[in-house]
Amino acid sequence: MANVVTQSKTFLSSKVGYFTESVIREMTRQAMLYGAVNLSQGFPDFPAPAEIKLAAQDAIASDVNQYAITWGSKSLRNAIAAHAQRHQGIKADPDTEITVCCGSTEAMISTLLAVCNAGDEVIVFEPFYENYGPDSVLSGAKPRFIKLRPPTSLDGEWTFDGQELRAAFHEHTKAIIINTPNNPTGKVFTREELELIRDLCVEFNVLAITDEIYEHILYDGAEHISMATLDGMRERTVTINGLSKTYSVTGWRVGWTIAPPLIANAIRKVHDFLTVGAPAPLQEAGAAALAMPETYYQKLADGYRQRRDHLMPALVEAGFRCFRPRGAYYVMTDIAAFGFADDVSFTHHLVKNIGVAVVPGSSFYLDPADGAQQVRFAFCKRLETLDAAAERLKALGRG
Ligand SMILES: Cc1ncc(COP(=O)(O)O)c(C=O)c1O
Repeated sequence: MANVVTQSKTFLSSKVGYFTESVIREMTRQAMLYGAVNLSQGFPDFPAPAEIKLAAQDAIASDVNQYAITWGSKSLRNAIAAHAQRHQGIKADPDTEITVCCGSTEAMISTLLAVCNAGDEVIVFEPFYENYGPDSVLSGAKPRFIKLRPPTSLDGEWTFDGQELRAAFHEHTKAIIINTPNNPTGKVFTREELELIRDLCVEFNVLAITDEIYEHILYDGAEHISMATLDGMRERTVTINGLSKTYSVTGWRVGWTIAPPLIANAIRKVHDFLTVGAPAPLQEAGAAALAMPETYYQKLADGYRQRRDHLMPALVEAGFRCFRPRGAYYVMTDIAAFGFADDVSFTHHLVKNIGVAVVPGSSFYLDPADGAQQVRFAFCKRLETLDAAAERLKALGRG
């Protein structure tokens, strides 16, 4: 057959030219390649709670093995509503406002696809969780970044400039994404900050999309506030959450959105055609997980505080300048003391020659130069794993 494909024709969507594969997931592959201690990707290396695993096994054994209702099994949606009410004071109707997705990853992209049109802008705080950039592009929107400025001391806070944020809002702004507690910075947005954002959302008629996947991982008395509970925000907020981090089951791929009925309906349509539904037996196990007693959440946060306080002194000792997280399970660090030209060459040296995998800071910024002297450590690991990393980091000479 004659070759009818011309050189100028490409089979690729122009959208995929605007982003790369995930650097975070690539670092896990590199950790495996070099046999490095993996402190890059945010997944626990310790077992998930036994009762949740049993609930999943029971669900499979009792033949919950076919498609669940596309927007989520009734038992899981009821459990999500009860949990959101109990922990955050969000009152949600499981029948019209909750949509179960394949992880909060799918919850975010389904939401953006459901609300964005070409030409819309989505405001994102920077440094940002990697997915938000590609998610915005895939949904046809343009991300607009607002800087979170690093603290000047180990115990300081990441802050943003209210005037700069105000200037980012305009008639084409569709939504603002807020991730609190925050990956990668560990920032927990304060009530004053959320109120400032709330006022702008109301003034400019903008939707808030909040990624609250680390809601239970808080330190030093930090308090998590759900944007949807602020006056005037319930009807303009999509709250995203999931099982991955709270129950140490990142491979289960169960997450959800809570949104006002009209928006929930649009999210459900997108979600149905994207994935049909999240794994049915794991949804039943999720319902059991969400009913865990209060002590479970206290132990979870305590365990992570212990890991944070175990790793950070070792990082300081090795020469990293650390920014102490108030929530989530990452430490952002400054690597200037090592004298490397950029974070990518430093990260490569670390994984290949020292045997520790971390995430280069540039993957959290639009302009790689902004993250060129930062790397992120994940400490959702056993103390032995953190010790093994600390031991290896001793070989790291300062520049
Ligand atoms: C801020 C944030 N959102 C979402 C995710 C992914 O969550 P899920 O496993 O529910 O898709 C992660 C994972 O690291 C994350 O850090």
